[in-house]
Amino acid sequence: MREQDDPEYCYSLLARDAVDQVEAYGGGPVDGLTVVDVGGGSGYFTEEFRRRGAQAYLFEPDLGELGTKPPDGAVVADGYLLPLADGVADVTFTSNVLEHVADPPTFISELVRVTRPGGLIYVSFTNWLSPWGGHEWAPWHYLGAERARARYRRRTGKDAKHTLGENLFAVHIGRTLRQVRDRDDVTIVSARSRYWPFLAETVVKAPGLREFATWNLLLILRRCPP
Ligand SMILES: C[S@@+](CC[C@H](N)C(=O)[O-])C[C@H]1O[C@@H](n2cnc3c(N)ncnc32)[C@H](O)[C@@H]1O
Repeated sequence: MREQDDPEYCYSLLARDAVDQVEAYGGGPVDGLTVVDVGGGSGYFTEEFRRRGAQAYLFEPDLGELGTKPPDGAVVADGYLLPLADGVADVTFTSNVLEHVADPPTFISELVRVTRPGGLIYVSFTNWLSPWGGHEWAPWHYLGAERARARYRRRTGKDAKHTLGENLFAVHIGRTLRQVRDRDDVTIVSARSRYWPFLAETVVKAPGLREFATWNLLLILRRCPP
């Protein structure tokens, strides 16, 4: 709720929580690991990985999102085509990016490619039918994206950042789970709500309900050996 007023507080907290999750599912501290943060915005997550001793690298295609003080060594790059060799990362991390790409399976393939066999892939996204699915025009997206966007403009006097089909896409939990289960290069370590403190995996097991109640899907994947 404080994202707009106090992004520093909000994103630092989120970054600590996300790295705790990586450590919990990865089986230990990230100290010494190579971490690739794809679509990492201004770098809160990369900075938190570094604070804990990881060699973390930020890849972000949008200069505006990188801001004026990106982490040292940040690379302007698209997640569909990362300038990295196969299997270099112990952990590949992407937070709230999948709903901003037109082709999630291809994006995930690239995350898998750069992760070493046995390495962890952290993918989280706000699905379309989540109460936050419409981002700055939520929850009015339930009445249609165009109407919600127009309402945002009327209320704030400015254009919304996101346009459905341009930089925001209707990504669904059921379809994404099927796409990931169909892959033979990853196993699913966990499919859970990113933010729910309880019943986080249970809610994702309920078709239909999960599209509304999960809020944000977190997939923890492990790359299979070749
Ligand atoms: C909502 S922001 C999330 C930023 C940060 N990861 C976080 O969780 O706060 C979405 C990010 O996805 C990035 N993005 C969009 N398309 C991308 C792509 N094809 N490859 C990599 N990043 C992309 C945007 O530039 C933006 O920084």
